[in-house]
Amino acid sequence: MEINDIIDLLSKEIDSRRLEHSINVMKVSEQMARHYGSDVNKARIAAILHDCGKNYKGNDALEYIKKIPYIPDEIEKIQPKLLHGVIGKHLAMTKYNIGDQEILEAIRWHTTGRAGMSVLEKIIYIADYIEPLRTFEGIEEMRRLAFVDLDKCIVHCSESSIRYVLKKGVLLHEKTVETRNYSLMLVNMNSI
Ligand SMILES: [Fe+2]
Ligand SMILES: [Fe+2]
Repeated sequence: MEINDIIDLLSKEIDSRRLEHSINVMKVSEQMARHYGSDVNKARIAAILHDCGKNYKGNDALEYIKKIPYIPDEIEKIQPKLLHGVIGKHLAMTKYNIGDQEILEAIRWHTTGRAGMSVLEKIIYIADYIEPLRTFEGIEEMRRLAFVDLDKCIVHCSESSIRYVLKKGVLLHEKTVETRNYSLMLVNMNSI
């Protein structure tokens, strides 16, 4: 499927604000992919589809998950919003005909991140965080680091994410902690 066909189909699925966010993530991902010599087309497709599962909230998400081979953990059951990456990956395969594993994994992991992300996964994770509509404390530094050091940038994004979760008083997913620790280890290793 060509990117314009994907956008056409997606615009019928998600609201205009989310579509604007997804287009912004696509633009940032494209710039980052160019900067890091990564596949620009893959970055565009992964970015435009990263939130395609976002329409499934609460019970809808839990019902969707029952029909696919995925067993949610305790935190995902309590906060089904966390499942939109898994659902998005499945929708990308079934509705948008995406077969590329790298793209699918970038959609799958964009919310929490994970240890050992590929460059594409890192780009989508970061672009989602820093796109122009976002306003967080320290975002200018994240926007700068996005083009300097992916791992250092992810340390900042995941720490900001952890602070947000703590402030909100909701459950913190272990994958977010894993992402932060693993990225910090990579940063420290590279500075030795
Ligand atoms: Fe998302
Ligand atoms: Fe997003």
